[in-house]
Amino acid sequence: MTFPSLLQRRVNAALAGLGWVLPDGFVATVTPAADTRFGDYQTNAAMLLAKSLGTNPRAAATQLAEKIDVTGISKPPTVAGPGFINFSITPETLAQRLESLLADEKLGVSPATAAKIIVIDFSAPNVAKQMHVGHIRSTIIGDCLARIARFLGHKVLTDNHIGDWGTQFGMVLYGWKHSLDQAALTADPIRELLRLYKSVNSVCKAEEDQGGATPTREACKAELVKLQAGDAENRAIWQQCVEVSLKGLSGVYGKLDVSFDHYLGESYYNDRLPSLVAELMAAGLSRESDGAQCIFFDEVPLLADKAPFMVRKSDGGFGYATTDMATVEHRVKQWRADEIWYVVGAPQALHFEQLFHAVRKWGMNPGMHHIAFGSILGADGKMMKTRSGESVGLLEVLDEAEERARATVEEKNPDLSKSDKEQIARAVGIGAVKYQELSQHRLTDYKFVWDKMLSFQGNTAPYLQNAYVRTQGIFRKLEGDAVFHGPYVLSEKEELDLALRLCQFAETVPAVLEDFRPNVLASYLYELARSFHSFFEACPVIRAEAEARNARLALCEATSRTLKTGLGLMGITVTDRM
Ligand code: ARG
Repeated sequence: MTFPSLLQRRVNAALAGLGWVLPDGFVATVTPAADTRFGDYQTNAAMLLAKSLGTNPRAAATQLAEKIDVTGISKPPTVAGPGFINFSITPETLAQRLESLLADEKLGVSPATAAKIIVIDFSAPNVAKQMHVGHIRSTIIGDCLARIARFLGHKVLTDNHIGDWGTQFGMVLYGWKHSLDQAALTADPIRELLRLYKSVNSVCKAEEDQGGATPTREACKAELVKLQAGDAENRAIWQQCVEVSLKGLSGVYGKLDVSFDHYLGESYYNDRLPSLVAELMAAGLSRESDGAQCIFFDEVPLLADKAPFMVRKSDGGFGYATTDMATVEHRVKQWRADEIWYVVGAPQALHFEQLFHAVRKWGMNPGMHHIAFGSILGADGKMMKTRSGESVGLLEVLDEAEERARATVEEKNPDLSKSDKEQIARAVGIGAVKYQELSQHRLTDYKFVWDKMLSFQGNTAPYLQNAYVRTQGIFRKLEGDAVFHGPYVLSEKEELDLALRLCQFAETVPAVLEDFRPNVLASYLYELARSFHSFFEACPVIRAEAEARNARLALCEATSRTLKTGLGLMGITVTDRM
């Protein structure tokens, strides 16, 4: 059990023992100390209760503090400020914890009390549209959350809900039939599809701007209708588009080391849509509005005055809303999902709010979360674009990351073998891009700045990877002599600080899922690496006398494993040298 949960139990037991009359449902909480000069953890329970008890908060705190049994955890609690009770974990407890976490593959992280089936919907790029840096956020955050949920013992199903059935296919089909460049398709299919889509799109736009007839747009619509009606030729072209796109995507996912259990794109649900809408109509859940079938949310104040959720368009077609309802149904009925997490940009907030309400009206109630994120900006603070004004392709970004990391490795460590250099360049380059993403609060926009993310100083992947390399360096120097075993004796301040940090991995990993914030883990790892550096500077390891050396080697080993595991939960690999 983590220190805060242990202490929390003891505080609540003390409260029960005091016989105070507590407000209904009152539970004291214990959190990391705001000011670590006074302790490691604190509770504000006495301050919260003082008023209803009619006493002064400090007096209540003193009374409560005396009653808390902290045996085996902390020193006697102290009262500070207006009535905080502070706890300092004892060196003996830290030493025992260090021993037990070294014996645990999960480094002290306990499995979730209730294991759930969680479907995570992330990445989900659109066929024939470029996967751009915006998709990077969904892909990296989604993958990290999947890794963490699995680590905590949940059954996770990752599902890439590819946009393979959108209106863009009208234009792609038209372009395919009129201006396909077969050689270009063979050489770089994704680029060719994108070119077709863009060129037809601009012809349509130009027609519209002229204000007259729009024959190209009409022709595209007709192609789309034929596709949806099952026309054999259009189906075959569509199939080919989807296949080449998936193949292209696999290159990006391979580089990122991201994988999916399922690739059920929008098209997978197509056959279910007409009957689904018929059901909604029969149940009185949707009604006609301007020729379309819509779900209204008059009872939800925030949605009542927004556009309704359109499940069938006035031309009889179905769209994103209906597909997403069918998708929830599949996940709940076929996969038995307890929860569905959508890692999708903030602009789709309204869509998901409506979807969740619609699904509940329809009679299903899995836990549904829209895990939103902001934008990525260029170094100039504007939306990231290439020189020609398009959004930047993901694969190019990843290639450049590796390229830049390779140059750094070459400069820092020219004597490494070629294959070592390659491996390091990939770990550092891709790691830097991922870490820059995951170390931000997901809702803030962030600037994509190469030099910052690839720096060996500051809150970056290379800094953390380098801390790992340092731990490995110690063991390499000692060769077979790096033996250590419990019980450990910890005494120096830096040893104790580092040991406490190591124990806090157990608190941190589950905390990420409270509000889906990978940056909580990133901040933790950064602090861990800093504690390790302070320790390493203050406490010699190899030259220490036997007892100290024994404990210090254990601290190095635990740090090394925690960094590797923690970075691994972010999909970032470590290397032994760099
Ligand atoms: N393809 C969509 C886009 O690129 C994202 C899909 C998200 N998932 C979902 N079930 N709606 O905007």
